[in-house]
Amino acid sequence: MCGIVGYVGNREASAVLIEALKRLEYRGYDSSGIAVLTQSGEKNPLTVIKSPGQISTLEKKVKISGSHTGISHTRWATHGAPNEVNAHPHTDQENSIAVVHNGIIDNHLALKRELAEKGHVFRSKTDSEVIPHIIYEEYKANGNDLFDAVRRAVKKLRGSYAIIVLHRDHPDILVCAREKSPMVLGAGVNEGFIASDVTALLKYTNRFMFMDDGDIAKVTRNGIYIEGPSGEVAAHEWTQVDWSIEDAEKGGFRHFMIKEIFEQPRSLHQSQAGWRSEEDNIPRDLARAEMIRIIACGTSYHAGMVGKHLFERFTGSPTVVSMASEYRFADTTSDNPLMIFITQSGETLDTIMAAREARSRGLKTVAITNVVGSTITRETDITMYQRSGPEIGVAASKTFTSQLMMMYLFSAHMGYHKGYIKRDDYNSIKEHLRHTIRAVEGILNNTAPIKEMGEWFSRCENAFYLGRYINFPTALEGALKMKEISYIHSEGYPAGELKHGPLALLTDKTPIIALVASDHTYEKMLGNIGECSARGSPVIAIAPEGDAEVEKYTDRVLYYPNVDPLFSPIPISVVLQLLAYHAADHRGCSIDKPRNLAKSVTVE
Ligand code: G6P
Repeated sequence: MCGIVGYVGNREASAVLIEALKRLEYRGYDSSGIAVLTQSGEKNPLTVIKSPGQISTLEKKVKISGSHTGISHTRWATHGAPNEVNAHPHTDQENSIAVVHNGIIDNHLALKRELAEKGHVFRSKTDSEVIPHIIYEEYKANGNDLFDAVRRAVKKLRGSYAIIVLHRDHPDILVCAREKSPMVLGAGVNEGFIASDVTALLKYTNRFMFMDDGDIAKVTRNGIYIEGPSGEVAAHEWTQVDWSIEDAEKGGFRHFMIKEIFEQPRSLHQSQAGWRSEEDNIPRDLARAEMIRIIACGTSYHAGMVGKHLFERFTGSPTVVSMASEYRFADTTSDNPLMIFITQSGETLDTIMAAREARSRGLKTVAITNVVGSTITRETDITMYQRSGPEIGVAASKTFTSQLMMMYLFSAHMGYHKGYIKRDDYNSIKEHLRHTIRAVEGILNNTAPIKEMGEWFSRCENAFYLGRYINFPTALEGALKMKEISYIHSEGYPAGELKHGPLALLTDKTPIIALVASDHTYEKMLGNIGECSARGSPVIAIAPEGDAEVEKYTDRVLYYPNVDPLFSPIPISVVLQLLAYHAADHRGCSIDKPRNLAKSVTVE
């Protein structure tokens, strides 16, 4: 969701803060702002500049030199419209304290009422503005100690927050605190950084320390001091993050998304190669799980749906998949499943809260994530990294196919150690995966037919994606990609359900994308294509190369290189990503930052 950055050091703070904010643009935002301290004689050294819209608009307004400490923020409105007043940083009424905040303060109305009685006046409609006012009161009442004031203030907050606090009388200190919202500290030489996300800081450092819930930290150019929730010194380890700044740049591509689509042979290879070290960390008794429950949101949920079929096939253990936001509120059951949480960012709040809930019930928990040190890694017993490299486009592409890779490898590993499949089967699955990566390369070597189809598709307003069995989730994911980035209304459907309602919606302007795999669903799918064609709907079949039969049912076919049908979700997904990309590009959409969406959803 929103992004926050803090800097203290010898560089021009305003430049670092704007540059780092640009790296967070991908998370989605509607306004931005900055607060820095400058040496300005008589004047208040605290300067706050805010702007609705793009960071480039803010950048034009920021003409500051001589700043060495500051904070910045990209906002994604929750309370109050996206305008200049509601943008962060917020200040107290004397403009002595500036605060940036990610998250939601649930009790802000009660706090505002209390403060209003003491004479505080609020300018914005946000929940966040209450924070500098509380800190102001605590600072005055407790001997002008900023760290202590923040510690006392956060005790009054209910909800989620990652905050950074800047005080005009403390030019070399930033104080920050975290509760249910991501926050990472970074170290350079004689400089300190704070951010909501490591990608903001990759240009400056690869050394990070991840904060835990309840932590409060003081960051100066000479070092970092952290206290945990009970006031104890919290010494977390420094983590080296091996992502490079180039990984997080466009490298000649027009959009991050198309770059990330084309990176898939490499990211899939990294996921498979990295599995060797993941495998070593899996306790053998995990394979004894009699039931598996996978929890995730969005695209990760679709990876989990594919995983369900794989765990059932390779381990024989019944597997259910739940959306994190639903699982949390469902009635608890008395079963004892192995819980697998899939979240590429490791920060999706619903998934984290679901993991917490599962742990509190004493269940064994596993996380599959892309981000080293992310929150989910501390909320679960075992972490497996998918190693896709940073993904900047809001719509997931390479992280999805890597999640699929992890589903194949993890389920096959479990099945082998359970004795449900043989060593040879496990090896053969790995060989199929290598072949599948070559198939992805094949698709990327000739994208012209998909581009042409995407351009035709861009004129449509509604579409159905049909799949069966392991490709029903592929259909859901393909439709999600299309709606996210092109805004064409697209629904994924199990092909067999079409006749129970959606057939009524078919017209000659409603294309059907039919996912064809040469497995036990093949004939039924051809039948479904026939049903749709007969009603005049244009059908685009995505079919394995060499399938001459499908052309009898539709003249629009996009072929993918032949793979064992069980592995077809990976190449088919790549075709569907490209289809969505080219449709969206032809429509002139904001592909990397679709309207209203965020990369990392850290609110519930
Ligand atoms: C957001 C993103 C999606 C992502 C989902 C879950 O909606 O835009 O791309 O699939 O969150 O994110 P996670 O990080 O938990 O996989």
